[in-house]
Amino acid sequence: MSESLTIALSKGRIFEETMPLLAVAGITPLENPEHSRKLVIKTNRPEIRFIIVRASDVPTYVQHGAADFGIAGLDVLIEHGGEGLYQPLDLNIARCRMMVAALESFDYAFAVRVGARLRVATKYVQIAREHFAAKRMHVDLIKLYGSMELAPIVGLADVIVDLVSTGNTLKANHLVPVEQIMDVSSRLVVNQAAFKLKRSEMMPVMDIFRSACRMTDRQEGKI
Ligand code: ATP
Ligand code: PRP
Repeated sequence: MSESLTIALSKGRIFEETMPLLAVAGITPLENPEHSRKLVIKTNRPEIRFIIVRASDVPTYVQHGAADFGIAGLDVLIEHGGEGLYQPLDLNIARCRMMVAALESFDYAFAVRVGARLRVATKYVQIAREHFAAKRMHVDLIKLYGSMELAPIVGLADVIVDLVSTGNTLKANHLVPVEQIMDVSSRLVVNQAAFKLKRSEMMPVMDIFRSACRMTDRQEGKI
């Protein structure tokens, strides 16, 4: 492995949950992006570096070849569309669920039954659009960039489409999940063109992720 390889990922939960996978192969960052303002982070392996970007920007960096690899949630990949990307591996990290949620006092089942036109606030417009289209429901989508839980409280929307893990954020805001849309986890993504040109350099990194996933699955008793 001589050519340099760039892995795009976001700080916070993706970085934290990816590091144990790479540690299995002895790859460690030389700085912690939580404490450093640097956006390019070297590792103990001179040929591998990380770039730190917004979670929703990861597919864009990889699609345009600014990074060879990226790690992104299924939610982000669906919203992006996946153009120019291979998605060879589910890393099984940052696991959560995409849900429809409403105020405890809102009768979602009734609204669906009578064919009400719902106002849906979400950051995930593509996923929400497809979900309600499949249910043949007419909805008005309201694009937000965060804090979706607030929208039903202040009357901006009837329901939200958001990620749920522990359910604590919903509970704290008197919301309840009313429908699951999909399970979400984070995937390794690969630039298709780079993979064709640098296959021999990139394969070992993919193998590192693959075997690290197998090992952690084994530790969690999944295999
Ligand atoms: P951006 O900064 O681009 O707006 P973000 O704030 O959603 O993105 P993170 O909160 O770091 O970024 O989430 C990264 C990924 O982790 C998401 O795309 C999703 O797949 C997953 N995720 C989001 N929330 C949770 C959660 N509560 N528990 C587990 N995984 C989550
Ligand atoms: C995500 C999601 C929910 C919360 C759910 O937000 O948008 O608000 O996690 O997690 P819970 O079910 O465990 O409470 P996040 O913490 O990523 O904040 P952000 O989207 O505003 O960055």
